[in-house]
Amino acid sequence: MEIFNFIGDTRQWLEGHHKPGRKEGFVPTMGALHEGHISLIKRAREENDIVGCSIFVNPIQFNNPEDLEKYPRTLDEDIEMLKKAGCDLVLTPSVKEMYPEPVLENYDFGDLERVMEGKYRPGHFNGVAVVVKRLFDIFRPERAYLGEKDFQQLRIIQRLVQMENIPVEIVPCKTLREADGLAMSSRNRRLSPEERKIAPRLFQTMMEVKDQYGRKEIGELKKMAEDRLEKSGFIVDYVEIASIDDLQPLRDRKEKAPARIFVACFLGNVRLIDNLEIIS
Ligand code: PAJ
Repeated sequence: MEIFNFIGDTRQWLEGHHKPGRKEGFVPTMGALHEGHISLIKRAREENDIVGCSIFVNPIQFNNPEDLEKYPRTLDEDIEMLKKAGCDLVLTPSVKEMYPEPVLENYDFGDLERVMEGKYRPGHFNGVAVVVKRLFDIFRPERAYLGEKDFQQLRIIQRLVQMENIPVEIVPCKTLREADGLAMSSRNRRLSPEERKIAPRLFQTMMEVKDQYGRKEIGELKKMAEDRLEKSGFIVDYVEIASIDDLQPLRDRKEKAPARIFVACFLGNVRLIDNLEIIS
């Protein structure tokens, strides 16, 4: 596996390996890799000739300085995992390499960014869009693999690709979970043993809502979920039940549009997000 710190070297390698008809799959990450990330790499490996990955803890998508500072960094282990999964090249650029000049881009994703993560983390999706656009410009992949774990991010990136006419196919990938239901996440490493025991209640609560859907009003269901989470020791940012297309909240239990439940909450100072399909 090739490991590059610089954009120029990455471009040069990719150009050297490009042949007509050859497909490249790309997986952007912030490192601290786990099996969820690796499932994306493996899928890209199965479906493409070349598999590229980036590891970059993107400062401009963090709206909380402590979250950025405490974000786990495990580069040596990450590289071993990528090699084992059959990745061909990884770019691990410095902040200066990605952002030599102040960032001026300002995307407007409309209603998509006014709910949930967009509402609770101002500037977050602009930061994601800026880095993903630059990474797509560097890798120029035919396909990019993104996790449904960050469902709103997936939608934002699909919109970005449409708005900017980027010739890439976005491939959504299922959320990988631990045996107890906790969605795999780099931030899970920051949970204390006590918090780790509580964490699966997030998934359990979403399953309960899914079970009860249609039998109770949406407001009641959201309240039930919030109460359960708060009783278990979470501090809830939001519980939302939203259409999977435009991510706007559902208001009526009779709505049959494909929908998901979305939750963001803190355990101690670790912020967890997750979502689950309610109606397909
Ligand atoms: P990161 O959190 O490292 O996630 C990288 C990719 O892995 C994302 O597409 C994410 O949805 C996916 N992923 C994370 N946990 C997963 C799980 N349990 N199962 C399946 N896929 C999972 O998301 C980012 O980085 C950044 O915002 C990034 C897109 C790289 C831009 O900086």
